[in-house]
Amino acid sequence: MQKILVAGGAGFIGSNFVRHVVSNTDARVTVLDKMTYASSRDALVGLPEARLQVVVGDIADPAVVARLVGAHDVVVNFAAESHNDNALEDPSPFVQTNVVGTYVLLEAVRREGVRFHHVSTDEVYGDLRLDAVERFTEQSPYRPSSPYAASKAAADHLVRAWVRSFGVEATISNCSNNYGPWQHVEKFIPRQITNVINGGRPKVYGSGENVRDWIHTEDHNSAVLAVLERGRIGETYLVGADGQQTNLDVVRMILRLMGRPEDDYDLVADRAGHDLRYAIDARKLRAELGWKPVHSNFEEGLARTIAWYERHVDWWRPHKDAVEASYAAKRM
Ligand code: NAD
Ligand code: DAU
Repeated sequence: MQKILVAGGAGFIGSNFVRHVVSNTDARVTVLDKMTYASSRDALVGLPEARLQVVVGDIADPAVVARLVGAHDVVVNFAAESHNDNALEDPSPFVQTNVVGTYVLLEAVRREGVRFHHVSTDEVYGDLRLDAVERFTEQSPYRPSSPYAASKAAADHLVRAWVRSFGVEATISNCSNNYGPWQHVEKFIPRQITNVINGGRPKVYGSGENVRDWIHTEDHNSAVLAVLERGRIGETYLVGADGQQTNLDVVRMILRLMGRPEDDYDLVADRAGHDLRYAIDARKLRAELGWKPVHSNFEEGLARTIAWYERHVDWWRPHKDAVEASYAAKRM
């Protein structure tokens, strides 16, 4: 792996991946990113210029993609519209970027014979009952419930079809909920931390009993690199770190860690079609590729994430008011 093209490399997980690659390999990285509201140039500051080039462009633009793909050994696709609440307002950019964008990348790697890795989500499998012990595996049926999840599922199907029909050398990873530095304040954990820093109250959808399976973004990215380096072509790997928590428990933990009473939150309107529970069985990834998470203590990882948001107020504050105004308009 000499040259990696990282689509969506200025987003939350993609920028973390770029830093992970620069620290753990000799590869040179090109970021291709449309620089939407969810991107951050700051997240890439300080990386050695000789190892990183940033190209502003759209993965759904065949001309930009064609110009770049052939000059790389590997393409990793993190680029996406990623927030469920936004997809419920307007699904169209989700279909355009997540589906058409992935199609454009696939056609380019097919033409150029370049290795492709597609970063996907556990949401393609729908949700699990709250009272079951069942977890998602690579054999779980696709059953997306939201517009975002459906767009990601469509992209996964395209990747699988391009492997089978055209012999494209691709892999897919489906990960659970990430947390850590550089995550946009629209998302659950950063929203609640920054509400508390601002002196406000966390906002919990519905009853707060919904369960998410939290993984630190550095662990997600060590898994993506492991799949790139050692994964079998055509295979899917589920990525998770045994981090199931109810939303209420996460909010109570944030409040406790930030020195506020544990019941100092508001229950607000629920998300339409809100998935109940996600849970990942990552035994294939662990056994086949020898991967294991470093951040196995969620409370510790959360405390470090809180400290990061306390140190980076200048980064998130310019976006906070607009995000809260948009939630307030929906009573969320
Ligand atoms: P994000 O929204 O923080 O970042 C997405 C990045 O993609 C941004 O930099 C944005 O500018 C870029 N982008 C959007 N449309 C583009 C386009 N048309 N062309 C080029 N760049 C474009 O998202 P994230 O949370 O970092 O998620 C990254 C990937 O990981 C996504 O594919 C997402 O589905 C997947 N994923 C996320 C999570 C999670 O918990 N956040 C979990 C599992 C999988
Ligand atoms: O599971 C992987 C997915 O995790 C990724 O594919 C998505 O890109 C990522 O955004 C995330 O999706 P979720 O919808 O699970 O994440 P979100 O941070 O939006 O919400 C997490 C949970 O918290 C969910 O049950 C909704 C709830 N929630 C969210 C917000 C923003 C609240 O209760 N209050 C809130 O203010």
